[in-house]
Amino acid sequence: MIETEDMEFAPRVISPENTTEDSDIELTLRPQTLHEYIGQEKVKENLAIYIEAAKRRGEPLDHVLLYGPPGLGKTTLSGIIAHELGVNLRVTTGPAIEKPGDLVSLLTSLSDNDVLFIDEIHRLSRAVEEILYPALEDRVIDIIIGKGPAARSIRMDLRPFTLIGATTRAGQLSAPLRDRFGVIQRLELYTKEQLTDIVRRSAMILGIPCETDGAAEIAGRARGTPRIANRLLKRVRDFADVMGDGRITRQIASIALSRLEIDALGLDSLDRRMLEMIIRGYGGGPVGLETLASAIGEESVTIEDVCEPFLMQLGFLGRTPRGRCATRLAYEHLGFAVPDNAPADDGQMRFGDSEG
Ligand code: ADE
Repeated sequence: MIETEDMEFAPRVISPENTTEDSDIELTLRPQTLHEYIGQEKVKENLAIYIEAAKRRGEPLDHVLLYGPPGLGKTTLSGIIAHELGVNLRVTTGPAIEKPGDLVSLLTSLSDNDVLFIDEIHRLSRAVEEILYPALEDRVIDIIIGKGPAARSIRMDLRPFTLIGATTRAGQLSAPLRDRFGVIQRLELYTKEQLTDIVRRSAMILGIPCETDGAAEIAGRARGTPRIANRLLKRVRDFADVMGDGRITRQIASIALSRLEIDALGLDSLDRRMLEMIIRGYGGGPVGLETLASAIGEESVTIEDVCEPFLMQLGFLGRTPRGRCATRLAYEHLGFAVPDNAPADDGQMRFGDSEG
């Protein structure tokens, strides 16, 4: 269900958040080895060394923190790490670990050198986080038995294990938690070439005839995110089946993506609404995040985690201490006359006295 009467309330086809439909497709498409995984070259090179070293020593891999925008393959990478280490993977999320006891049962159920993956690790409660510190540092947990003055603490040893934490917001992790990860890796948005390879690989696995130009068209509008590229591939396939001969060509991809209101650079209606609000409603900015979010009726976390990394990468948006600003490039892309004082995208946005 993509096109509805009211697009405002339709799910965004280019939201990088995971959906049930994505999970099915992602399971089929998920690479199993570092070799099959496309992109994130530096991260792969480093991990390959750490994995090999841990295997040679017969020790668990050091704890790993993966951070970066959603949809870039943090879960996929943790599956690959476990596979390459030849151990089991347990997957959970920060909000799913409600009580310290939930974490204790997870930790005590692991076998030697297993990987525990906690997505959205910045959302762990403080009480749960406190169980995690000694578990990560000394491989022990302190269990409190009883209540009140009779309460006793029992220390329990854990089997060696690796925690992989994933987050879109490394800045929200507490310092003591962040400091307990030996390996910290940032995942970057993918290039168009890498996404083209990912789309071609996915099309091949799913048995969809896809020309390289068609894959490149999808890749160019997937805002640097494999999850979005794979979702768009499925939607474009529908258009190819109904309007063409099932083959994904550049022309079919272009028609389909325009129908999905995704423009030539991958901006969707929310990105455009946000930029138009900054330009029309606030004279190009600066405008504060919360003000902007309520003006367009969107949650500020969506704007911050989803729209902004991509718009900033395109050079369409600047962030200053006083708020968000639309750049010259944004005015031009949306077809507005560029005012003289519109900031250029030189990575060093200057706003006179705005640094207050
Ligand atoms: N599917 C999703 N992400 C991928 C990646 N980085 N490499 C290969 N296939 C993928």
